[in-house]
Amino acid sequence: MQKATRQTNRWSNRLAYILAATGAAVGLGNIWKFPYITGQNGGGAFVLVYLVCILFIGIPVMMAEVALGKHGRHTPGRSVLEVAKSSGKSHWWSLVGWMGVVSGYLILSFYVVITGWALAYIYKAGAGDFGTGDPKQVQALFADLTNDGWALLGWTSTVVLATVLVIGKGVKAGLERAVSALMPLLFLLLLGLAIYAASEGDFWAAFHFMFAPDFSKLSINGVVVALGHSFFTLSLASGIMIMYGAYLPEGVSIAKSSVWIAFFDTLVALIAGMVIYPVVFANHLEPGAGPGLIFQTLPIAFGQMPGGRLVGVLFFIMLVFAAFTSALALIESSVAWLVEKRGFGRWQAAFAAGFGIWLLSLGTIASVSNMPIAIFHTPWGEVHFFAILDYLTANIALPIGGLLIAIFTGWVANKALMADMIDAPWVFRLWHPVIKYLAPLAILLVFLQLTGVIHL
Ligand code: TRP
Repeated sequence: MQKATRQTNRWSNRLAYILAATGAAVGLGNIWKFPYITGQNGGGAFVLVYLVCILFIGIPVMMAEVALGKHGRHTPGRSVLEVAKSSGKSHWWSLVGWMGVVSGYLILSFYVVITGWALAYIYKAGAGDFGTGDPKQVQALFADLTNDGWALLGWTSTVVLATVLVIGKGVKAGLERAVSALMPLLFLLLLGLAIYAASEGDFWAAFHFMFAPDFSKLSINGVVVALGHSFFTLSLASGIMIMYGAYLPEGVSIAKSSVWIAFFDTLVALIAGMVIYPVVFANHLEPGAGPGLIFQTLPIAFGQMPGGRLVGVLFFIMLVFAAFTSALALIESSVAWLVEKRGFGRWQAAFAAGFGIWLLSLGTIASVSNMPIAIFHTPWGEVHFFAILDYLTANIALPIGGLLIAIFTGWVANKALMADMIDAPWVFRLWHPVIKYLAPLAILLVFLQLTGVIHL
């Protein structure tokens, strides 16, 4: 039996919506991923391109997604279908919504592994494993964790199980209340750490690294990573913003709320960078250390600062919470799909989706712990399963998903219908050319450049 009732659920007000969307947006992407990809891609120039992507592509695409959801009032695939039908266009366009659900599922499979690292670090911080913050000891601690496949399996399984238990219950109220209390705390803690890092670490070296653009350090691949990350960090092209748009009350400005969500998300990422880089430079660490960067730098600060044990425990608890709320949002659309379309019970769906995630996560676990089965020899050298998955989702699937959303809302969907959703006429006049020409063209150019078809 197919449920086709339009969504009658609504966020209670504008603030509730902004908080929920910010909760989904702020996660590992801001605190774990943004600092390390900035390090790998040379700093300032990368940050600048990332900010440009957020402003000119991310925010317009977010508005497009929320508008699709608001008109469709359904799960992502179905909402896009509704808009296609109202515009007299092919039902195949619903694939645009479906692509997001699949991307979200694949992202989740490595998201749970990294959340597992953060969980392990709550324990390590509490046990005093950071010692006096000796950089060598802290680096060894991280290497010991990632080399221990069984430990990773244990932490990851705990995260998957917790996700399944909460999603299965369907009780979002308790969690959402916890999140709205914890997110401001996370923000305050980050701010406090930034002040500490600025006074104890090398503030100016970090500031220069993050904000003085040196374009000779930025490759075309770096531009793709910046573009992909702007989608990843705003939770775009992964179904969720269409879903949240379906719950949008009448009278909330899609434009203004999108700007706020993007602003908070970007702020958290920039502050996270200014927490991590002063420590990196003061201790002569490598900015391009990769996915382990925050786990190899922050513990140095926690080991050295007064009360660092408590601050460390608190910090990793917050990080796990930020990641956990994103994980719940990431699994929700597949669970909802199993319930609606496959007739699963809620619990059955949660366990089925969770089992799939768990199986997929084994690939990431095997590759971070350097097991040969997850390392492939290609003409470009050795590639790890985790790296492939990360690249395919964040840098290929999300930008292409965003491109299709831009094409669909800019060219295919009925213009009057979109104008009706994107509230004020002047906002629509600004948004429409951006989503119709600028966003698709920019995404296409980046891709053609990447594949070597053109050289700018
Ligand atoms: N934005 C999240 C982060 O930065 C990751 C993410 C991508 C996400 N797509 C999502 C979270 C969909 C929730 C729903 O960590």
